[in-house]
Amino acid sequence: MAAASTMFSDCSPSSMTARLLPLRRIHIDSTLFRSSISSPPLPCRRTISSAFAARMSAETSAKVIDGKSIAKQIRDEINIEISRMKDATGVVPGLAVILVGSRKDSQTYVRNKKKACEAVGVTSHEVNLSEDCTEEEVLNSIAGFNNDPSIHGILVQLPLPRHIDEENILNSVSIEKDVDGFHPLNIGRLAMRGREPLFVPCTPKGCIELLHRSGVEIKGKKAVVIGRSNIVGMPAALLLQRENATVTIVHSYTKNPEEITRQADIVISAAGVANMVRGSWIKPGGVVIDVGINAVDDPESHRGYRLVGDVCYQEACTVASAITPVPGGVGPMTIAMLLSNTLSSAKRVLNLK
Ligand SMILES: *[C@@H]1O[C@H](CO)[C@@H](O)[C@H](O)[C@H]1NC(C)=O
Ligand SMILES: *[C@@H]1O[C@H](CO)[C@@H](O)[C@H](O)[C@H]1NC(C)=O
Repeated sequence: MAAASTMFSDCSPSSMTARLLPLRRIHIDSTLFRSSISSPPLPCRRTISSAFAARMSAETSAKVIDGKSIAKQIRDEINIEISRMKDATGVVPGLAVILVGSRKDSQTYVRNKKKACEAVGVTSHEVNLSEDCTEEEVLNSIAGFNNDPSIHGILVQLPLPRHIDEENILNSVSIEKDVDGFHPLNIGRLAMRGREPLFVPCTPKGCIELLHRSGVEIKGKKAVVIGRSNIVGMPAALLLQRENATVTIVHSYTKNPEEITRQADIVISAAGVANMVRGSWIKPGGVVIDVGINAVDDPESHRGYRLVGDVCYQEACTVASAITPVPGGVGPMTIAMLLSNTLSSAKRVLNLK
């Protein structure tokens, strides 16, 4: 398997001449996909003839975990629950989104969140603040929404301009409305046994939901999380541990990441490095959840780039038993989980089960 690097065009070093620029921000928030992707995920194909493929061809190729259709199913379920809630109580869930500045990517995410809210019956309220607004102005809008009973979830679109202290801002969101799950109290509860967070961060929650809905057992399994960001890696590891997996975190200082990852029954990769995880990193029969959304140069695409995961899909899908594609895997789950968190917040307030 070591020789694989030149055999797979999509994973070869030349295609990785890292146009990694949108990586960090896309990585934070993958909701872009709702509008941009219309085709179903690619099947797991063995397109190459090589020693590697020959060795693997005896095995069945991985089941593709279709995040797009699972996310749609979840949105449909949410839509039905909201109609019932409206009929029974006259109340619908409300989400407030605070956008600071005019980053194009953030505007796109906010627009997509708004559309997704409308489609399931959540009312959305936006506040757009200018790039040079003060921290106090942001805190004031949050305070207003904290005190507004028609708002059940508050989301501050990240990243914030540099002069605004992200920690202060996230601390000021009422934990009862912290639908992003980034408040330190919610993260702390997630980490502690016997405590329940009110909300769990959307992307890692989406990863676990994909595993559950694909019938993957987590309890007692060895899981590896690649990456330790506050937004994905760290909470994903905590969630897997709550599911009673044995969890190892692989990060930039880990020695032998390949060997450690190969022991995992379940891999969640959130490294933000295109095609870093090769087929040889995957345990035969393992399950792969790829959170990475990385742009790589692609002259054949009309945009000049295309999006790939952290995992070299063509290689991994011949080894794994199930795998998420990029795009169309974890991406669509993030907004679905945001809607789900907003709905549960409203149910909590209304005392509904
Ligand atoms: C706020 O900005 C978003 C994203 O650019 C836009 O879709 C929305 O219409 C704006 N809302 C208001 C109230 O200006
Ligand atoms: C994990 O183990 C704890 C302790 O035995 C148990 O209470 C909990 O229900 C288990 N959770 C899952 C998801 O298996």
